[in-house]
Amino acid sequence: MSALLFVLLSGFLSFQDIANGAEENAALWGKTSQTSVHSTYESKYAVDGDPTTRSETNTESDPWWTVDLLNVYRVNRVTITNRDSGYYYRINGAVLRVGNYLDLYSNTICAEIPTIPSGVTSTFNCGGMEGRFVYIHIPGNNKILALCEVGVYGYLLGNLAIGGNATQSSTYLSWFAGQAIDGNRGFNTQANTACSSTNNESNPWWRVDLNYAYIVNTVVISNITCCPERIIGAEIRIGNSLENNGNNNPICAVIPSIPADNSSKYSCGGMQGRYVNLIIPGNMKMLTLCEVEIYGEGPVVERSFVRMHFNSKADLTDPVMRDKILKQLESVLAKCGFPNATIRWSQTPKPEVIQETETRPCSTEN
Ligand SMILES: *[C@@H]1O[C@H](CO)[C@@H](O)[C@H](O)[C@H]1NC(C)=O
Ligand SMILES: *[C@@H]1O[C@H](CO)[C@@H](O)[C@H](O)[C@H]1NC(C)=O
Ligand SMILES: *[C@@H]1O[C@H](CO)[C@@H](O)[C@H](O)[C@H]1NC(C)=O
Ligand SMILES: *[C@@H]1O[C@H](CO)[C@@H](O)[C@H](O)[C@H]1NC(C)=O
Repeated sequence: MSALLFVLLSGFLSFQDIANGAEENAALWGKTSQTSVHSTYESKYAVDGDPTTRSETNTESDPWWTVDLLNVYRVNRVTITNRDSGYYYRINGAVLRVGNYLDLYSNTICAEIPTIPSGVTSTFNCGGMEGRFVYIHIPGNNKILALCEVGVYGYLLGNLAIGGNATQSSTYLSWFAGQAIDGNRGFNTQANTACSSTNNESNPWWRVDLNYAYIVNTVVISNITCCPERIIGAEIRIGNSLENNGNNNPICAVIPSIPADNSSKYSCGGMQGRYVNLIIPGNMKMLTLCEVEIYGEGPVVERSFVRMHFNSKADLTDPVMRDKILKQLESVLAKCGFPNATIRWSQTPKPEVIQETETRPCSTEN
């Protein structure tokens, strides 16, 4: 029997909507600087989470303050807390910019600030502007820039894990799997609401389903404030199979030691997969993660149509048999990373003398 099959591999038409993750104040772990330091009012005091301390420049021309978020963010809003004093008017005329440039003026203006009342926190909507740097500056001569607190709220751009579905081998108390992909790296936060953890068990694992297969370039694992030593020996695995809960997929990296930095980056050289797993092989291990970020490209499968010429020894004039074969093909495609394939016959199968056979990685035989 021979027939034409019509296969619809359904995928994404656009990039993943990352707007459903939890927002965090990205300024809190950024690196700050300013044009000059008046007395002890260093730039860092504007992002220390304490509105009673402040940054302040000397009196100068065009003073500025900046925070480097260390990553590109989609910045939704910036909050500025003004000083609670008779000098509140010094903020008047400040300009807020967001962008990817070290050079202040190359960045895009999010807001021009006529004034902020004494001691008030104002929110400026930046509507998802992209940027790694947030600048606040006051154009003009004889200006002083003082900031009690600056908050930058948005999402890591291009982090494929946000919007994914996380699960783990077991859950220790309220350390849910999803807390490792909530966009919150867990610094300056209660770890039990920002991080995930399994119980102390054999071969604990954690997995995120990215919903579609992606080309994965890097995996970033962030600070496990309580217990960085626990991550030693963890394997990062990427692939499309759920065999052994995804823990048989190819290895991108084995984490060799306590990360030297707050965030460790593992290069996966363009491995492809829908599932990213972490597993610590061995007895009595606990897998604790504060944030897992995944950067790459994709999805690999966009909406595409495939026509297959299909040969079978089965009697395809029988509708029950035709149905059975479609189901088998769907399960084969699912194993090849296309779980949402829709298959239907585009022609009613008819008997034919088979002249050649072809073998493809995802073919099935009957
Ligand atoms: C997330 O994964 C769990 C476990 O695999 C599954 O039960 C649940 O339906 C998934 N949720 C979504 C929204 O896909
Ligand atoms: C980790 O982050 C903290 C808080 O932001 C910072 O003080 C510290 O220097 C960082 N550690 C390393 C190794 O970068
Ligand atoms: C994680 O960040 C905390 C600050 O929040 C810091 O004290 C600790 O050293 C960091 N851990 C690692 C492994 O970098
Ligand atoms: C897990 O249990 C083992 C055996 O009781 C113990 O040695 C180990 O310290 C525990 N690990 C953690 C992270 O609690």
